[in-house]
Amino acid sequence: MHRLNTLLHTLLIAGGAALAGLSFVAPPASALEASFVGAKKCKVCHKKEEVGNQYGHWQKSAHAHAYETLASDKAKEKAQTLGIDDPQKSPKCLKCHVTAFPVMDDLANQKITLEEGVSCESCHGAGSLYKKKKTMKGIAEGKIDRASVGLTKPDEAVCKRCHNQDNPFDNGFDFEAAYKKIAHERPKK
Ligand code: HEC
Ligand code: HEC
Ligand code: HEC
Ligand code: HEC
Repeated sequence: MHRLNTLLHTLLIAGGAALAGLSFVAPPASALEASFVGAKKCKVCHKKEEVGNQYGHWQKSAHAHAYETLASDKAKEKAQTLGIDDPQKSPKCLKCHVTAFPVMDDLANQKITLEEGVSCESCHGAGSLYKKKKTMKGIAEGKIDRASVGLTKPDEAVCKRCHNQDNPFDNGFDFEAAYKKIAHERPKK
């Protein structure tokens, strides 16, 4: 972990180019003062079938295993061709395979883990300001502006922060088809 911190630090102070690369996958500006709470926090209220079991849907999706994937033979082989030692430690891979990437240098003080891979907050925004039930209900009822508490509308642009040509396995991205595979809507009333 220490080695990685040092690595990230080097990246951060490397200036312009490196920073541009990092901010590419960082959450939108409106959510920057909010912090990550981790998928387990969302689970408490989003696991019942009556409300659509978003947690269960996510757990079955590839996103939940995105960190694990970086330990696979396929990942290691690809990494080798790019001069990367360990994909699970390289910012070049982690930036799209874990939600926690923007806070890697302070992970010990965060509620989110690398293991949860690409989780709720990668698409919906860091949750510390919107996770309270009252706030969530207020948003659903249109009384609270979602952007003001960092709840982003996950559209195609959000997906393309990671589903783009920087992905060494990229072979195009079809939003409609991809969305169907991860859909976790609430049941219609
Ligand atoms: C933070 C980066 C990130 C974001 C944002 C993201 N994805 Fe992904 N997605 C990944 C990674 C990494 C994988 C590969 C995970 C694995 O196989 O371990 C993946 C895999 C998938 C897969 C499974 C592969 C397939 O084609 O069957 C689908 C479907 C998918 N994403 C859809 C979406 C959609 C739709 C959005 C936007 C609403 C989205 N993703 C946003 C990183 C991201
Ligand atoms: C720009 C974002 C991005 C970066 C950087 C990235 N990935 Fe991925 N990775 C993805 C997405 C998105 C997918 C899912 C692609 C799909 O299936 O459509 C994926 C899928 C994968 C898969 C599964 C491929 C398969 O077909 O089973 C492996 C393995 C993988 N990535 C390894 C790596 C490694 C190793 C690195 C670092 C060298 C890396 N990735 C860097 C976004 C990224
Ligand atoms: C890969 C991106 C992605 C991930 C990961 C993700 N979501 Fe979503 N989520 C979406 C998209 C896209 C929609 C549909 C657009 C919308 O309703 O804003 C959505 C919709 C929702 C909705 C509203 C459903 C409705 O019918 O209005 C809830 C609630 C939700 N997600 C919760 C979660 C929770 C909880 C997690 C984690 C356990 C999670 N999401 C993980 C992209 C994602
Ligand atoms: C204390 C319970 C609670 C927690 C924790 C919680 N939510 Fe919610 N969430 C709700 C309720 C209640 C609604 C409104 C659902 C309704 O009225 O059908 C909601 C609605 C949503 C919506 C839909 C908003 C809209 O567009 O109408 C999204 C997206 C969402 N939650 C994501 C998350 C994510 C991501 C997390 C974790 C960071 C999370 N929630 C944590 C209770 C919670």
